[in-house]
Amino acid sequence: MLTPEQNDLLAKVGPGTPMGRLMRRYWHPVAAVGELDDNPVKPIRLMGEDLVLFRDVSGEYGLLERHCPHRRADLSYGWVEEDGGLRCSYHGWLFDTTGRCIGQPYEQISHPEANFKEKVRATAYHVQAKAGLLWAYIGEEPVPELWDWDRYYDRGYKQVVFSEIPCNWLQCQENSIDPVHFEWLHSNQSLRLKGDPGYSPTHTRIGFDEFEFGIRYLRIRSDTDEENELWKVGRVCLWPNALYTGHFEWRVPIDDEHTLSVGWFIDPIPGEQPFEQERIPYWHSPIVDEKTGRWISSHIMNQDFIAWVGQGAVSDRWNEHLGESDRGVIMLRKQFMDDLAVIEDGGDPKGILRDAGRNAMVPLPRIRAEIGQFAPTRYPPRFPFLVDQPEAIEAEYHALWAEYGGELPA
Ligand code: FES
Ligand SMILES: [Fe+2]
Repeated sequence: MLTPEQNDLLAKVGPGTPMGRLMRRYWHPVAAVGELDDNPVKPIRLMGEDLVLFRDVSGEYGLLERHCPHRRADLSYGWVEEDGGLRCSYHGWLFDTTGRCIGQPYEQISHPEANFKEKVRATAYHVQAKAGLLWAYIGEEPVPELWDWDRYYDRGYKQVVFSEIPCNWLQCQENSIDPVHFEWLHSNQSLRLKGDPGYSPTHTRIGFDEFEFGIRYLRIRSDTDEENELWKVGRVCLWPNALYTGHFEWRVPIDDEHTLSVGWFIDPIPGEQPFEQERIPYWHSPIVDEKTGRWISSHIMNQDFIAWVGQGAVSDRWNEHLGESDRGVIMLRKQFMDDLAVIEDGGDPKGILRDAGRNAMVPLPRIRAEIGQFAPTRYPPRFPFLVDQPEAIEAEYHALWAEYGGELPA
């Protein structure tokens, strides 16, 4: 349980808030690389700040304040120019990826000697491409390393899926350290959806183990023991706002009442031949059932979304009753509280990596069964995590499956 004041302190991440300052110390995925292939200018909202992301003709990425420094028009309606920069659609001012104003058409005609453009700058932030995603850093300097997780380099078919969730990011992230919900929200609910009145194996013990980049959470169920990797390795609540279970799920704060769910998935490609994926596809998954107006519950992450939005736009944690199953949630809140003090004292919060020499294929705890997926013999199941995977993506993957010698059903 938190007081309303503590709740606001931890949940709210707008500009100038303590938690906003803390969350701005991390890189956040905000778009897919493929999105800017399709359209080089994209409006972004991150932690309550409106921004514009673009790729100039040289292939460099820029992330600028959304409103033009001239008279505040929306730069996401501008365009990239053949000879460089992002052009505002209102009066044609031109900005490069560092925010420098490099063109002011009428000013340059009327008062070329004044060089007014030298006096104008758009606020610019950092962008990097990695793992098919574009990552933003909008916090204080110096900029930390953008984590280079080993999983990004595994052989497999990768895809990125976005969903927009109308609630605060923190309740989404608390779900990343909640082992018991798997049994109910996913396993038992999925049985009910199939009309099966049974129950899945129940949790008999849970544990938590902190490491540099997060907290592993461990479980023993009625069908597993201490030798099982669910206990020995576990799953990862990845700092500060992700879940890692072999795939990644980031919960990126759009603002205090909206979260961008970014899923990064990897599916096995059978056989041993080298496999290079030319382009990591991306898609958007809906969360509302158009027919009923209710949230969609058929897929694993959709079930999570229902739990999160069900807690309210910002969960009223002063009405909670935390039990033993919530030990991880309590650890997570305490770490954030501690880190608020750490950054006040000028230190780095949890999970920040500054040593570039260490930032190459950084290992995360993994369950061997997932590695086993890389030599599969079973026809792959339909994508289970999010609803409405585009047919073209499913077809591309299944064609690769067959091309690389995967067994097909009779
Ligand atoms: S408002 Fe952008 S050029 Fe005038
Ligand atoms: Fe879940």
